[in-house]
Amino acid sequence: MTITTPSTAAGGQRRPTPISLMLLGRGTDPFTERGVECPGDLPAAADPALADRAKAAKAALGDELLVLGHHYQRDEVIQFADVTGDSFKLAQQAAGRPESPYIVFCGVHFMAESADILTADHQQVILPDLAAGCSMADMATFDQVEDCWEVLQDAGVADSTIPVSYMNSSADIKAFTGKHNGTICTSSNAKRALEWALEQGGKVLFLPDQHLGRNTAVRELGLSLDDCVLYDPHKPGGGLTADQLRAATMILWRGHCSVHGRFTLDSVHDVRARIPDVNVLVHPECRHEVVSSADYIGSTEYIIQTIAAAPSGSAWAVGTELNLVQRLANRHPDKTVVFLDRSVCYCSTMNRIDLPHLVWALEALVDGTVVNRITVDDQTRHYAKAALDRMLSLPGIVAKD
Ligand code: 13P
Ligand code: SF4
Repeated sequence: MTITTPSTAAGGQRRPTPISLMLLGRGTDPFTERGVECPGDLPAAADPALADRAKAAKAALGDELLVLGHHYQRDEVIQFADVTGDSFKLAQQAAGRPESPYIVFCGVHFMAESADILTADHQQVILPDLAAGCSMADMATFDQVEDCWEVLQDAGVADSTIPVSYMNSSADIKAFTGKHNGTICTSSNAKRALEWALEQGGKVLFLPDQHLGRNTAVRELGLSLDDCVLYDPHKPGGGLTADQLRAATMILWRGHCSVHGRFTLDSVHDVRARIPDVNVLVHPECRHEVVSSADYIGSTEYIIQTIAAAPSGSAWAVGTELNLVQRLANRHPDKTVVFLDRSVCYCSTMNRIDLPHLVWALEALVDGTVVNRITVDDQTRHYAKAALDRMLSLPGIVAKD
């Protein structure tokens, strides 16, 4: 089965607003990345031979296969990743491995799409479960972003606005960004991307994560909250006047991550009261007030490195996805590592990738069948690649191993 991202970025075809996630993974909606049947039988989750089957399939595929794993993946899956990383490192790895014809991406759909855009034609990217999407990426659709651009044109600010799109966006949003001379960023290079964009034009349209945009602009570039306005795609004109758009430096899209949005100032106060000398370490997708009250802020890769480098006996409350926090707690028994909020929260779509789906995809490859291939059409790829290449070549962005 091949899922191709339909082209609208250059073609201008109108799409309906996506429906909410089809978490049960049944049925297909060609206008979003969500929900699909798995043809054939998935192995049972309780099958004790699953890990051995994954090992055997990997051994049979040898160097033909590269398994990439995002840090939010389950332990049962991440153990089979050849490379683990944040979304920036994984994009670099995909771009730098032309020798692997098959890339199995254990992450979410926008990451696999980006890998397909960055890899050569002879390489095929596979997402073990197509219901592994990202609710934040769904908060900016191509039509909404095109409408927003018209609003900026009407206000006379489009010519001085550079789009900066977070990696957590669909391929056609990336293509929109490339077409309008913008760049992609991730949580590990948002500062450099924003600096670059502000050097090109006086304003930035940042999408879809309002929090990463605001946190980077205010905390890292020294802009004020008043320099930022919030564009709501569900309101006429984004809910903003032309004067507000003209006065703003950062036009933030009203999108957010449902996992990181759960952390509140109360979570921070509560953990500081419970654990003496605790260090609060959060991902920049958290709300501004949470990030402002934290001690350390950074991408998933930064979070891992910070805790690894911390002294024995130190205490850490981590505001990011639970699989990663649990892994860090297990990896560093000499340190106290806890989830920032009292109520635990996995990223449900990252968790769609489980061992049965991974084994299913790998064993199909051994049998010569590519399942759940992610492909991006040529027109979308062209402009999306321009935006991704710009990110990868921004000065000051360091290549990772
Ligand atoms: P990183 O870029 O830090 O890996 O984050 C990706 C993501 O989806 C966080 O929610
Ligand atoms: Fe998307 Fe949030 Fe999950 Fe990251 S944690 S993949 S931003 S829903």
